[in-house]
Amino acid sequence: MNASFEKKILCIGAGYVGGPTMAMIARKCPNYKVTVVDINPQRIQRWKSDRLPIYEPGLKELVEATRGRNLFFSTDIEEGIREADIIFVSVNTPTKTYGLGAGMAADLQYWEKTARQILACARSPKIIVEKSTLPVKTALAMERILKSRESRIHFEVLSNPEFLAEGTAVRDLEKPDRVLIGSRLTPSGLKARQELVDIYRNWVPEENIITSDIWSSELSKLVSNAFLAQRISSINAISALCEKTEADIRNVAMAVGRDGRIGSRFLNASIGFGGSCFKKDILNLVYICRHYGLEEVAEYWESVVHINEYQKERFVRHMLTAMFNTLAGKKICILGFAFKANTGDTRESPAIHVCTRLLEERAELVISDPKALDNARLDLGHLEQERISFVQDPYEAARGVHAIAVMTEWDLYRRLDYQKIYDDMIKPAFIFDGRNVIDHEKLYDIGFNVYAIGKTPLTHFDESESVQDLQA
Ligand code: NAD
Ligand code: UGA
Repeated sequence: MNASFEKKILCIGAGYVGGPTMAMIARKCPNYKVTVVDINPQRIQRWKSDRLPIYEPGLKELVEATRGRNLFFSTDIEEGIREADIIFVSVNTPTKTYGLGAGMAADLQYWEKTARQILACARSPKIIVEKSTLPVKTALAMERILKSRESRIHFEVLSNPEFLAEGTAVRDLEKPDRVLIGSRLTPSGLKARQELVDIYRNWVPEENIITSDIWSSELSKLVSNAFLAQRISSINAISALCEKTEADIRNVAMAVGRDGRIGSRFLNASIGFGGSCFKKDILNLVYICRHYGLEEVAEYWESVVHINEYQKERFVRHMLTAMFNTLAGKKICILGFAFKANTGDTRESPAIHVCTRLLEERAELVISDPKALDNARLDLGHLEQERISFVQDPYEAARGVHAIAVMTEWDLYRRLDYQKIYDDMIKPAFIFDGRNVIDHEKLYDIGFNVYAIGKTPLTHFDESESVQDLQA
């Protein structure tokens, strides 16, 4: 059966990127055999089952349409390497937690292990595709490892960074703004690049497939994430000023975004950006700049992360001052734990910081989320369990609490019956909307004291002094 496939593609790393990306390639290229391997057998087992390891709208249907036909999941990495013509490497590249560069640089240990394993198992020429997000010049290290043995096998390394966002991964993969492929500008580099272009051409319009030298491609990925995160930190910084001046951040964002040069997307003020990549990729960019002695450039980008930390902590302080400077023994319902809507992923979710800080203030937490409770349990597993409970149903979660804090912009939270919720809460009832997703005026009319991002609080207290406190 395998003999009938035109080409064999392997992806090492069956995570948020490897799984969905390969499912899309399998769907769009029925003549290619696509195999996804991982060192984690439980993860592979879940990919083979009805309970996929990640939640992503449309992913189950995509996987079911291809699995067993030309999409396969396996733990046999060696066999996968031996039979593949093209190997995508999509392993995790987290921030280093030890040694030189700890807390800043990318930890490339998983990456390097993969390179060595490819070298050890390969018996025929391969195209190796960097799918993971990597520091600029990683391809050089990859090439050096792959050429380190007396071997006649030719390896060509390409850079093909992934730009999908979680929650919209299937849509992003199907209709990407652009696909970027970087290669060496040698005859063999250009030939390999064309092979990869030919895969994407099966569904991506040619004008959306960009090719470049390999270093520009690697760096463009880090810079894209840095620019996106920078927009969020920019609007979040202005949200703090709005709270001092009675301006409304949504009106400011709308007016600013109407300038075609600026654009309206990614200007939603929030409790801060989360997710596994923005922080790690900016810190990596900062580390690289410092490495090359570009201190001013490093500081500029580092400030994007500083503003994000400031925004999360500002939110906690608002809660504390609004609720009469003590949270001890108070029950707080956390609506949403995922780092954004439509995913169960909680990596670097702002909810982790907020919950940790609220527990430090001795509050009791009731955490609700439609998809992320399993991950939330793991994230908070090291904290005092007797003051944390996890409740799927938002109405039940909010019963008998002093305050609600909205951490994720799930659509569900826009449509809740807040009158019913208010009736079952302890008074005065507080709501802190970290995503500006609820109708604040309506909440105020119901009786809530409402605190949103970048807006003057709507409260039923009259002393002007307490309002000053809230804005400290
Ligand atoms: P992930 O942690 O979900 O998946 C990585 C997988 O690689 C894990 O399942 C792990 O077990 C596996 N792995 C690690 N070492 C291995 C090895 N030696 N052999 C086989 N498998 C191995 O990570 P992710 O979110 O899919 O991210 C992967 C890369 O893609 C990162 O560099 C990330 O920055 C980048 N990226 C992520 C996203 C996203 O939305 N998550 C988007 C674009 C780019
Ligand atoms: C982001 C990028 O958008 C992708 O292009 C990139 O491929 C990916 O990182 C990656 O490299 O991992 P992702 O983190 O999945 O994707 O999700 P985003 O939609 O970018 O949201 C990131 C965070 O910013 C979330 O916490 C979100 O709530 C927050 N955000 C986003 C805001 O606070 N305001 C906005 O206006 C937009």
